[in-house]
Amino acid sequence: MRNFISVKDIGDLDAAVKEALEIKTDRYKYSHLGKNKTLMMVFFNSSLRTRLSTQKAALNLGMNVIVLDINQGAWKLETERGVIMDGDKPEHILEAIPVMGSYCDVIGVRSFAHFESKEDDYNEVILDQFIKYSGRPVFSMEAATRHPLQSLADLITIEEHKTRKRPKVVLTWAPHPKALPQAVPNSFAEWMNAADYDFVITHPRGYELAPEFVGNARVEHDQMKAFEGADFIYAKNWAAYTGGNYGKILCTDRSWTVSDRQMSVTDNAFFMHCLPVRRNMIVTDDIIESPRSLVIPQAANREISATVVLKRILEGLQ
Ligand code: CP
Repeated sequence: MRNFISVKDIGDLDAAVKEALEIKTDRYKYSHLGKNKTLMMVFFNSSLRTRLSTQKAALNLGMNVIVLDINQGAWKLETERGVIMDGDKPEHILEAIPVMGSYCDVIGVRSFAHFESKEDDYNEVILDQFIKYSGRPVFSMEAATRHPLQSLADLITIEEHKTRKRPKVVLTWAPHPKALPQAVPNSFAEWMNAADYDFVITHPRGYELAPEFVGNARVEHDQMKAFEGADFIYAKNWAAYTGGNYGKILCTDRSWTVSDRQMSVTDNAFFMHCLPVRRNMIVTDDIIESPRSLVIPQAANREISATVVLKRILEGLQ
């Protein structure tokens, strides 16, 4: 594997899950692969799980790790070409990226959507420049439109807990006080479509995701109807995508908060969320603390998904 940006880069999903479960039984089995190899993790945005799990995955594989928080201690970066740099940004990303690449063998990048330009966000202008100019394999640690390390961990978690071959999986929008990017729901939808589950997306009108991510999913605007008979409920907030509403909050209806009321019509569904989660906005205390909540195993599987991805990238360097 050269880069890991989307579900397309992982190939056969059954093989990836099998590899993940094998790694889970012995996470140090491939510790020779990373000897004298350095991972650089570049964060333009905050993180708890991605930072820790990816670092742990690199250590599992015997790698050295450098972490750079762009907004804490590094020079502010200009990202537009052609700008007269007389403002507060003393370094251009076009020099910074190849310099970073010269100190490492693999680069992970976290760069969220800015909601200033839908075109720039959906063209992944920051991630794309790392791919073009670093000279190194690049993987996404959540970019503007996708969060594939999270989605692989979600897939592993569903495969570990499902009781039927083709479970009913529901992605539900839930309220949030801030406008959040579509990366997690886009990516989850992309991976659930690729897994060919019985996949339903539910959200208030106006929150339609980009058609290339919705794919073959059924869209149901009645949340209770969507939840009927579900095996897995995946909650997430996202801001509007469509038309002139890109990046806007259109709905604050707290009846969408996942609670006993909706869970009671499922088939004793598991509850999932990528975390961090705002309790009693996205989900009630009772549901997230229930024995059917998978949020902690999901987060733990982030180490496994990152180990699979880094292992495959390192194998490509041998
Ligand atoms: N789920 C996830 O990516 O968590 P962090 O933002 O804390 O890394």
